[in-house]
Amino acid sequence: MEQEFWQARWRENRIGFHEAAPNTLLTKHISRLGLKAGQSVFVPLCGKALDLDWLLAQGLQVTGAEFNKGAVEEVFARQGLEPEVVQQGKLLRYRAGALTLFAGDFFALSAEQVGSVDAVYDRAALVAVKPEDRTVYAGHLNRITSTAPQLLIGFDYDQSLMQGPPFSVPGGLVQTLYQGTHAITLAEERLADGRIGERCNALEQAWLLSPLS
Ligand SMILES: C[S@@+](CC[C@H](N)C(=O)[O-])C[C@H]1O[C@@H](n2cnc3c(N)ncnc32)[C@H](O)[C@@H]1O
Repeated sequence: MEQEFWQARWRENRIGFHEAAPNTLLTKHISRLGLKAGQSVFVPLCGKALDLDWLLAQGLQVTGAEFNKGAVEEVFARQGLEPEVVQQGKLLRYRAGALTLFAGDFFALSAEQVGSVDAVYDRAALVAVKPEDRTVYAGHLNRITSTAPQLLIGFDYDQSLMQGPPFSVPGGLVQTLYQGTHAITLAEERLADGRIGERCNALEQAWLLSPLS
């Protein structure tokens, strides 16, 4: 059901969430996670974001998960990479060089499949998850990444003004989901652009999540 909703968005090219350039909250704040070249970043619900290319260009190993095969294949084509494709349970694993993308359901992905993760980059992933599934999403993300540090980019707006997705994820909710596992800092907030900015004065917020020791 959920999968069909997203596949229809891709089929009909209703992908307003896709940005024409790497997200500047990513490029500005990821250094605060202290990653070094060669370390690995996991990108849940990654779409075909140019953020993936930008992370690769920093010398990082990048792993992502995305329902839509066409989006996954487009990222490899953009990179000029010919991936090895392997069926792993319910998911297809595409891998070439420093890039591994799983086509299929994020919730079906195991820690073994993801491998070692030094940081998580969530942009428009938590906000894409139905409100009733958020707790399961955050728990699963922590489980398969061993509660890695995280840069989380989402939106905060009056949910009565617009139906999600993207759903509003206010700071209180970030606290509820992650305060048991991470120290949470608001790195930056700014007025969102595009449709969500016009319709509901949404704030785009970047949160830094540091694992509690
Ligand atoms: C709002 S988009 C964000 C995509 C990307 N992070 C970006 O910034 O462009 C959410 C994406 O998650 C994918 N998606 C939603 N639920 C998923 C799931 N359970 N497993 C894998 N992908 C999923 C959708 O197909 C869609 O491409």
